[in-house]
Amino acid sequence: MREVYLGWHELAMEALRQEVANPREYKDVDRIVVLGMGGSGIAGDLVALTGLETGSAFVTVVKDFYVPKPVVNDRTLVLAISYSGNTRETLLSLELCSKRTSKIVAVSSGGLLEEYAMKRGIPFVKVRRGLAPRTALPALYAAAMKGLLTVGVSMCESSTLERWFDVLKEVRKAEFDAASLASFLRRARMPLIVASARYAVLATRIKNELNENAKMPAKVEIAPELFHNDIVGWERKLYSDRAIVVESDIPYEVEYLKLYTEILTDVGFEVEMLRLIGDGVVPRVLYGSLVAGLASVKVAEIAGIDPLATKSIAAYKSFINNMEGEIRRTLGLSD
Ligand code: F6R
Repeated sequence: MREVYLGWHELAMEALRQEVANPREYKDVDRIVVLGMGGSGIAGDLVALTGLETGSAFVTVVKDFYVPKPVVNDRTLVLAISYSGNTRETLLSLELCSKRTSKIVAVSSGGLLEEYAMKRGIPFVKVRRGLAPRTALPALYAAAMKGLLTVGVSMCESSTLERWFDVLKEVRKAEFDAASLASFLRRARMPLIVASARYAVLATRIKNELNENAKMPAKVEIAPELFHNDIVGWERKLYSDRAIVVESDIPYEVEYLKLYTEILTDVGFEVEMLRLIGDGVVPRVLYGSLVAGLASVKVAEIAGIDPLATKSIAAYKSFINNMEGEIRRTLGLSD
């Protein structure tokens, strides 16, 4: 897995160069909804972050079987992302959305989503096959942005994306940062991952990487919301562990993260700051994701476990496949 993370820059560029199948332009798009779960859902979160950071779009990311009616109408562009192309939540929510809009873009490495797109002439971007979905993050994100550009939704130029991806060339620094993060995390029981709201995607990504690669539970807290609930939970000092605080680039966020660090330290936590590089929030989140991927693989190696296998996810997927008939009936979809 380590090699895949180290090859992220090329993976992203390859997806950006990929030809879009069934290209066409969508007019009168007034809303964007992304469908995707797990590693593919994080790619959707990155698309949403891009819309916010470039001030170009407010994107809603749906991680469910069900898409509430007011979320999609005939001016909504729906972007479905599933690395395998076979994730039930994504496929069923797409089917539901396709009854309300014809403006659809799909991204996968194959599977049913590719078949669905090719059969209906939906703009489709294919990413490199054979990877664990979570390790394909930059490819899924780049492919999603390429798909959006092709149908006429421009959150940023291709050249901006290329510049942002440059941060993924910093593999030596990332490996160094990952080694120090891994040695900090190896003794954690349920590390706490903390970030300001603008970096919430990265906090979730770090948690997911620790879950899936290191087989470790983790908890995410986002500031300033955490000051309105979480901090009270520490008053009795019932639990302490290790915490990672994602560095911010905004002075007042730096200050309130310092305050939270003091609260945690007082409870007995050991706290380490995850320092980021990159010019802008998106490249900084990409760099942090690279470090988290490498660190979580390292923690797995130290613990003598296989970072790749995710047998609980496979068990859930077969459970949910058996329930498909019932879910379809509940959603009002024909069998
Ligand atoms: C596995 C992983 C998972 C998957 C999720 C959805 O590496 O990261 O979180 O991403 O189970 O599957 P896909 O991405 O195939 O739609």
